[in-house]
Amino acid sequence: VGVDQYWRSFSNHVGMSVAELDTPCLLLDLDALEANLDSLSRLLPRTDLAVRPHAKTHKSPRIARMQLARGAVGICCAKLSEAESLVGAGVEDVLVTTQVVGEAKVRRLIGLARQAVVRVVFDDERAARAVSAEALRAGVRLDCLVDVNVGQDRTGVAPDLSAVALGQAIKALKGLRLKGLQGYEGNLQLLQTASSRRDANRVCMERLGVVVDLFRKHGLCVDTVSTAGTGTFRFGGAYPFVTELQPGSYAVMDSTYAQVEGVEFRLALSVLTSVVSRQQDRIVVDAGSKALSTDYGQPRPRDPALSYLSQGDEHGKLIFSGPPSMDLGDRTEIIPSHCDTTINLHDRYTVIQGGFVVGFWPVTARGSIQ
Ligand SMILES: Cc1ncc(COP(=O)(O)O)c(C=O)c1O
Repeated sequence: VGVDQYWRSFSNHVGMSVAELDTPCLLLDLDALEANLDSLSRLLPRTDLAVRPHAKTHKSPRIARMQLARGAVGICCAKLSEAESLVGAGVEDVLVTTQVVGEAKVRRLIGLARQAVVRVVFDDERAARAVSAEALRAGVRLDCLVDVNVGQDRTGVAPDLSAVALGQAIKALKGLRLKGLQGYEGNLQLLQTASSRRDANRVCMERLGVVVDLFRKHGLCVDTVSTAGTGTFRFGGAYPFVTELQPGSYAVMDSTYAQVEGVEFRLALSVLTSVVSRQQDRIVVDAGSKALSTDYGQPRPRDPALSYLSQGDEHGKLIFSGPPSMDLGDRTEIIPSHCDTTINLHDRYTVIQGGFVVGFWPVTARGSIQ
């Protein structure tokens, strides 16, 4: 079956009610998605902040365009292949938030920079040199940010004079244009209380602030200082040196973020499942770990009287607080515990509004992990 034929096969499902859909399938509630995208700008702590939403969550050029239409300055991508996928689908301004390493990837990066505005981050001079050499050969110039470790201890150069040394090295390299800093504090996003997140964020922003001051003192550009996710953008954005925010999950949300105090976006995403086995003591649905990720724990049924327990690749058990009220073929929606990794399991979003299907959107960058 060709790709076009595959998509055409769904077109006659538009207008169906959710109850008629085959399962398991990834549902995206359009009203909730739009409400989330709209409310972001209202929640920003300053009016002069740029938003560059992270597409690692939704992996969809369609949603990226909706974000751009609402004023986003561009889109973040976690990996080069994700950026390629989105640029190939018409997104014109991307920041790759992970350093690009290796000859083949560097060539692809420069190829991408011929088609769109592409920014990259570096935490190592050797990676910057490799990109510079290829950019020079191709006659392109890339904007770039120094990736600073503000506390997550994942990527990023130390928040001290080592960041300055890297900034100076990049500034001296042809084919690169130093624009500023990235300091992502991913370890704080899910801290439960707003006050614990605000306090922990202060420590990270103080580290980033030290580097901003050092950059200024050494005549290095800090036009862009990019940080934050769904859990921290309201705190990070309050620091005057921060210019750009990178929230991702806010667009669709998940059951883990729904428990984080002060994160008040709507649950737009669910996986529709059917009961495929009903025994005396058990009700089992057709969605297991191939339809719902469990890296953040068990997903949560939308119906509060139920809980879900993954039963391997293809199945999940429903646990009832009262007497079981579901039978063979009955449907129920399960809210993913982690939106990013669940979306990456699906080829398409079944987009619904008021209980009816209004479209099928491809998860275009599904599997783009390279
Ligand atoms: C560099 C970077 N920025 C922003 C985000 C977005 O975070 P969230 O989905 O929590 O909003 C992530 C997510 O992992 C990330 O890695």
